[in-house]
Amino acid sequence: MEKNEINKYVQENKDRLVDELMELLRIPSVSADATYSQDVIEMADAVKASLEKAGCDVVEICDTPGYPIVYGHKIIDPALPTVLVYGHYDVQPADPLELWTSPPFEPVIKKTEIHPEGAIFARGACDDKGQMYMHVKAFEYMIKSNTLPCNVKFMIEGEEEVGSTSLSWFVERNQEKLKNDVILISDTGMISNKQPSITTGLRGLSYVEVAVTGPNRDLHSGLYGGAVANPINILAKMIASLHDENNHITIPGFYDNVEELSTEERAEMAKAPFDLEDYKKSIDIKNVYGEKGYSTNERNSIRPTLDVNGIWGGYTGEGAKTVIASQAFAKISMRLVPNQDHHEITELFQKHFESIAPDAVTVKVTPHHGGQGYVTPIDSIGYRAANKAYTETFGVPAIPVRSGGSIPIVALFEKELKSKTILMGFGLDSDAIHSPNEHFGIFNYLKGIETIPLFYKYFVEMSK
Ligand code: BES
Ligand code: MN
Ligand code: MN
Repeated sequence: MEKNEINKYVQENKDRLVDELMELLRIPSVSADATYSQDVIEMADAVKASLEKAGCDVVEICDTPGYPIVYGHKIIDPALPTVLVYGHYDVQPADPLELWTSPPFEPVIKKTEIHPEGAIFARGACDDKGQMYMHVKAFEYMIKSNTLPCNVKFMIEGEEEVGSTSLSWFVERNQEKLKNDVILISDTGMISNKQPSITTGLRGLSYVEVAVTGPNRDLHSGLYGGAVANPINILAKMIASLHDENNHITIPGFYDNVEELSTEERAEMAKAPFDLEDYKKSIDIKNVYGEKGYSTNERNSIRPTLDVNGIWGGYTGEGAKTVIASQAFAKISMRLVPNQDHHEITELFQKHFESIAPDAVTVKVTPHHGGQGYVTPIDSIGYRAANKAYTETFGVPAIPVRSGGSIPIVALFEKELKSKTILMGFGLDSDAIHSPNEHFGIFNYLKGIETIPLFYKYFVEMSK
């Protein structure tokens, strides 16, 4: 298997590789919104068909209590190592629709400053259809060129964006079927198109919803205002109190198990290329904001956070309505770091939030999904094989980076399947995942397809 041969294959098949991905991007497989349930199922079928066509021996649609999991494999010799590829075929909701420059499920190629050779604009282009499909196409190449050096299993789910509930259920019941030597995932990012990186850490997550209830009905804000607790005022005050003046989180016990990195580890992290001015410019902010004593890169990777993701209540329609709403709500996410347990943190949040509420209101905390964080060493065979593959296709070694995002299922894989995950991401932070105008560079897509077969090659060589 030669780097040049893979490159040749990718270049010769470029248009087809892009067109096939664009077809998948037309299916609005939004897992969070039941309106799209038929599309999510159609997407599972499309993934199945693509795995069959690429050369899997067996492909199954595995039913679960929720959306199906697409499983496929090619076993060439049980004595050889097995790579388990994980990805997700569901996508985030596309709203706010009015901010898209082209419809989210009608993919188009546009050039950008960062992607001069063009990027595919569509919901899921990067997260995760484009990145998942790189694996299908890399597999297709290895089958066609007769260079697949080991066994491969695919497990592509449809509920990642809503907490992977059915996948946990599936993994717990199918340990033998999913047995592998390494798990390979492309659902993260890299530093830039010139500087690849391998994600060595993911944050955990605790996601909760809160409701503050005051009077039993909406009230006239003149007749009752000043004499009755306003749930929106109270909720805003309670939320504001969750951070102190240094932007530390005030929930008692919240930091108890937080892993503190050594000065050396922090110095190592600080070596990754990062330009604060570019960062600010890319999102149009005058200044950054965060926990005192930590750099921007530390704040969004090795430190836990608490953020309101949505807040509502009262009158938000046109004009003015003088009213004190009966209820106010917020959705809050806490990103967690190694050693913080998401169940414990959810409980601490719940206790604290209830304790700070004045007795003029009642507070209800409803936990949503959660997950543990993940860290992986850089001396494993998987990491070294990935690094060698990147070095070959990009001309420079990859830098290990801890990401701020979460893929909660990764910690569960380690627990249930006892194997390490290698996070070979090809997206960029500027690709706007979860945002309007999500896109994926054609350079990134094709580079991924070229790099993946080299991972297989080196992983098998190094495992001998
Ligand atoms: N692919 C992302 C996670 C990600 C993106 C990690 C970029 C690192 C770099 C994934 O699809 C995602 O969005 N995860 C959710 C968590 C999930 C439980 C909804 C997240 O991080 O918000
Ligand atoms: Mn994803
Ligand atoms: Mn996502």
